[in-house]
Amino acid sequence: MTTQPIKGDDRNRVVIFDTTLRDGEQCPGASMTFEEKIEVAELLDAMGVDIIEAGFPIASEGDFHAVSEIAKRSQNAVVAGLSRASIKDIDRCAEAVKHAHRPRIHTFLSTSPVHMKWKLQKEPHEVFEMVVAQVTRARNHVDNVEWSAEDGTRTEIDFLCRCVEAAIKAGATTINIPDTVGYTTPSEYAQLFRTVRERVPNSDKAVFSVHCHDDLGMAVANSLAGVDGGARQIECTINGIGERAGNAALEEIVMAMRVRNDVLPYWNEINAQMLTRASKLVSAVTSFPVQYNKAIVGRNAFAHESGIHQDGMLKHTQTYEIMLPEDVGVSKTSLVMGKHSGRHAFREKLKELGYELGDNALNDAFNRFKALADKKKHVYDEDIVALVDDEIAQANDRVKIVSLTVIAGTQGPQQATLVLDIDGTHKTTQATGNGPVDAIFNAIKSLVPHQARLQLYQVHAVTEGTDAQAEVSVRLEENGHTVTARGADSDTLVASAKAYINALNKLAQKRQSVNPQTAYG
Ligand code: KIV
Ligand code: ZN
Repeated sequence: MTTQPIKGDDRNRVVIFDTTLRDGEQCPGASMTFEEKIEVAELLDAMGVDIIEAGFPIASEGDFHAVSEIAKRSQNAVVAGLSRASIKDIDRCAEAVKHAHRPRIHTFLSTSPVHMKWKLQKEPHEVFEMVVAQVTRARNHVDNVEWSAEDGTRTEIDFLCRCVEAAIKAGATTINIPDTVGYTTPSEYAQLFRTVRERVPNSDKAVFSVHCHDDLGMAVANSLAGVDGGARQIECTINGIGERAGNAALEEIVMAMRVRNDVLPYWNEINAQMLTRASKLVSAVTSFPVQYNKAIVGRNAFAHESGIHQDGMLKHTQTYEIMLPEDVGVSKTSLVMGKHSGRHAFREKLKELGYELGDNALNDAFNRFKALADKKKHVYDEDIVALVDDEIAQANDRVKIVSLTVIAGTQGPQQATLVLDIDGTHKTTQATGNGPVDAIFNAIKSLVPHQARLQLYQVHAVTEGTDAQAEVSVRLEENGHTVTARGADSDTLVASAKAYINALNKLAQKRQSVNPQTAYG
């Protein structure tokens, strides 16, 4: 069994185009802050993604700023921005990507009868002219232009071929035929690429691309079928996030090509050992939990529960595993961490999970790990990741939690007594509320006055069992800026307080970056 990258024939090299920051971010509730987008982009770049679609620059100032910054920072990847067919869109996109060492403009237009009639309210001949105009405009800015026939899989084939031919003639270097509504099937999509490539006379002048949505659960299968049909670029997202049911999941595509290279003889440059880390990061910044049974990166993807499976695994791992967990960044041995584990084992564990901490941060994390191990029967990898992420998030914070005592139960009012360290000074307060979380948030508000509005409060258990660590996500909004922060603890109420305080610290950093005189409140 090999899951190592198999570099083969150059003609079978597939370009990985990641659109987590554009199509992924477009799905309800997945918006990311500027800093979070930069963090995700840096990881994608380091992981070997060929093209990062960093956003939709015309959509907002924030999107423009993020695309522009990612363009400046990207070391290896091509940085693309999305634009509709209008001149304003394309010019704004060009402005945003111009600092990339390899910029791309991705411009799209609907070509299906239903989109042309109802969405664009245009006749096919008008759409055809717009295709030529949009690609020509984009090519005046950059050499690397992608054109997408939105709703391509529901487009009449003759018209699709005419548009593709015209786009290539106008200078498009990549032609994307998206399955915008997740409607196609593998054999149909493969045939679509074969037909277009055969019928369009200049098709050899462009790279063909797949872009599949998962409305019928076939996005990954369709993408791979499109490659069988001759496409050599796959557009996908980490964890498959995206509009509605999402996009094709990058991690599944990469590992399908690797594990089943015998029947899918294609290859890419992704460092698969970073897949788990990328999945966790995207899940954390979007607050979208990864489904436990998600292929490749789900918590259960390499877990074995039943006696028969465990017995098989103990005899030979290939009985129930088709790939090596370490090849996707999951530690091979489940080194059980508990209260008897020492600092050395803890440091090794962190390394295995992808963390290199300095001595002080390591000591703090180790002390917190020991405290957790005292309270909890099993400390899982996820607990350690939550704990260290929490530690890193708090390192530069001006407000820190010192202690919290809560009175809860049926005899209200619920009451919180809170001590915070604010810029090195301890401040204490007591507050009541409509439930313990409300009491805690009221106490925080009285010590750190602010106008921010709570938009989201979400709790999930990091691992199973009643002693599991809770991970709380809080989203706050203030003057149009939103921040999302997490807090983890074995006590849900403490995790709630940490998440809220982390969000206030993030808001304070944001305020300070705009106006360095501004402190809290
Ligand atoms: O799904 C789609 O058609 C898109 C295009 C903008 C490429 O996301
Ligand atoms: Zn899409």
